[in-house]
Amino acid sequence: MSNCLQDQQLPNFSCSVVSLSILDLSDNYFQGPIPSSFSNLTCITFLDLSNNNLNNSIPSSLFNFSHLTSLFLNDNNFSGQIPNISHKSNTLEELDLSNNNIRGELLSTLSNLQLSYLDLSSNELSGQIPSSLFDLTQLSYLDLSSNELSGQIPSSLFDLSQLSNLDLSSNKLSGQIPSSLFDLTQLSYLDLSYNNLEGPLPNKITGLSNLTALFLHDNLVNGTIPSWCLSLQSLLNLDLSYNYFTGQLTTISSYSLETLNLDNNKLHGDIPESIFNLVNITYLLLSSNSFSGFVKFSLLFELPNLRFLDLSKNTQISLNCESNANYTLSRLWALDLSHIDLTEFPKLSGQVPDLRFLDMSNNKLGGRVPNWLFEINRVRHLEDNWDENEGFE
Ligand SMILES: *[C@@H]1O[C@H](CO)[C@@H](O)[C@H](O)[C@H]1NC(C)=O
Ligand SMILES: *[C@@H]1O[C@H](CO)[C@@H](O)[C@H](O)[C@H]1NC(C)=O
Ligand SMILES: *[C@@H]1O[C@H](CO)[C@@H](O)[C@H](O)[C@H]1NC(C)=O
Ligand SMILES: *[C@@H]1O[C@H](CO)[C@@H](O)[C@H](O)[C@H]1NC(C)=O
Ligand SMILES: *[C@@H]1O[C@H](CO)[C@@H](O)[C@H](O)[C@H]1NC(C)=O
Ligand SMILES: *[C@@H]1O[C@H](CO)[C@@H](O)[C@H](O)[C@H]1NC(C)=O
Ligand SMILES: *[C@@H]1O[C@H](CO)[C@@H](O)[C@H](O)[C@H]1NC(C)=O
Ligand SMILES: *[C@@H]1O[C@H](CO)[C@@H](O)[C@H](O)[C@H]1NC(C)=O
Ligand SMILES: *[C@@H]1O[C@H](CO)[C@@H](O)[C@H](O)[C@H]1NC(C)=O
Ligand SMILES: *[C@@H]1O[C@H](CO)[C@@H](O)[C@H](O)[C@H]1NC(C)=O
Repeated sequence: MSNCLQDQQLPNFSCSVVSLSILDLSDNYFQGPIPSSFSNLTCITFLDLSNNNLNNSIPSSLFNFSHLTSLFLNDNNFSGQIPNISHKSNTLEELDLSNNNIRGELLSTLSNLQLSYLDLSSNELSGQIPSSLFDLTQLSYLDLSSNELSGQIPSSLFDLSQLSNLDLSSNKLSGQIPSSLFDLTQLSYLDLSYNNLEGPLPNKITGLSNLTALFLHDNLVNGTIPSWCLSLQSLLNLDLSYNYFTGQLTTISSYSLETLNLDNNKLHGDIPESIFNLVNITYLLLSSNSFSGFVKFSLLFELPNLRFLDLSKNTQISLNCESNANYTLSRLWALDLSHIDLTEFPKLSGQVPDLRFLDMSNNKLGGRVPNWLFEINRVRHLEDNWDENEGFE
């Protein structure tokens, strides 16, 4: 009975419905607490109360069923703590408490379960991640993002050989990223962004061959970007921005990449030409580093899907603006070439139909303003203050 009821009060369940095993009351308008009569649902295997406006604490009786495998209480207004979980409830495989106001520490009693799916994101959980959480060896999906968790990521993570999705972003985690994390073989999504993680990444890893997304941005990670990081064969999205990475970029051979963000690091040396072999790249952001060397502007025309290019604030780059190629950057939408000591206008002969934002401020441009600038009719922004709010999706 998902998304179909007008009632504001959850129904009571008497002993006569003990055989009910699947109950879906999600996406309705239920308010108030879960009534104690729910403990009469002794045969329940699947309970979904998500996306209502239920409140108060989550009753510990919900973790006392002998057959429950899936419990979805996400997107409500539950408060209080996660109840202590008895050994009895070890049938639970999927638990989603995300988007509530649940406080307190992550209890080690969670490891009494057989969870493969655990989502506790967007709550107010605090304290450390107990290493016992990683006794959940069946876990394939773990999302603890957007909480107040602190301390280090436990290194016992390597026990999670089934893990395919790990999101610990937007917490207060610190210390080094345990190297065992990079040896997980099934991982396809890894997000550790918006924490205080530090230290270098390991040079050699044995896992991550199925990784499609790697988000480490907005941390304190330093050292060089190891070559494995730029050669993962399944990777679509890589964001290492706002860290302290140093050194030069190695050849990029993650040809599947669709977004690459290395903004705001301390990288130097050439922008490797292999970057222009990333045929599916849409977002290429290299701003605010110390890249140097020669970049052939015409190589960009070999990136047919490019929508957003930011090379700004790399004052050592020399852009070779010559181009005789008959190109079409049909999808280019934003181009930021500001603060790079550009001395000549790039040759764009007008086949950039989607271009809406162009910033070439703070350069050393001279001579005639080329005609193409006046022919691009959709450009809205040509000033020296890039409007972040208007300019970025
Ligand atoms: C469920 O039972 C409680 C206590 O008897 C009562 O207050 C509440 O109104 C009942 N809920 C419904 C929907 O009848
Ligand atoms: C729970 O929701 C009910 C109905 O909206 C409200 O009357 C009650 O004050 C709420 N309780 C808490 C603790 O927020
Ligand atoms: C379970 O159902 C019975 C009626 O069959 C009712 O009397 C009892 O209050 C219910 N249990 C709870 C905890 O509400
Ligand atoms: C859990 O179930 C046991 C009996 O199986 C009962 O004694 C206990 O009170 C229940 N606990 C909760 C929190 O409902
Ligand atoms: C959720 O509960 C808090 C109190 O715990 C209350 O301030 C807030 O208004 C509630 N939100 C909704 C959408 O009812
Ligand atoms: C869980 O159990 C511990 C120790 O038995 C206790 O200190 C704590 O308050 C309990 N937490 C909850 C939410 O019941
Ligand atoms: C990668 O994923 C594919 C299918 O999604 C799977 O068959 C393969 O075993 C995975 N490889 C590794 C090393 O986990
Ligand atoms: C990285 O940062 C740590 C402190 O977090 C420091 O001890 C170490 O020397 C730094 N390494 C490099 C290569 O900068
Ligand atoms: C580019 O994207 C297309 C369409 O999604 C896909 O078929 C192709 O394999 C991708 N190319 C690379 C090098 O990953
Ligand atoms: C460039 O290519 C377009 C089609 O993509 C064609 O219409 C145009 O004539 C070409 N221009 C030159 C100078 O070759």
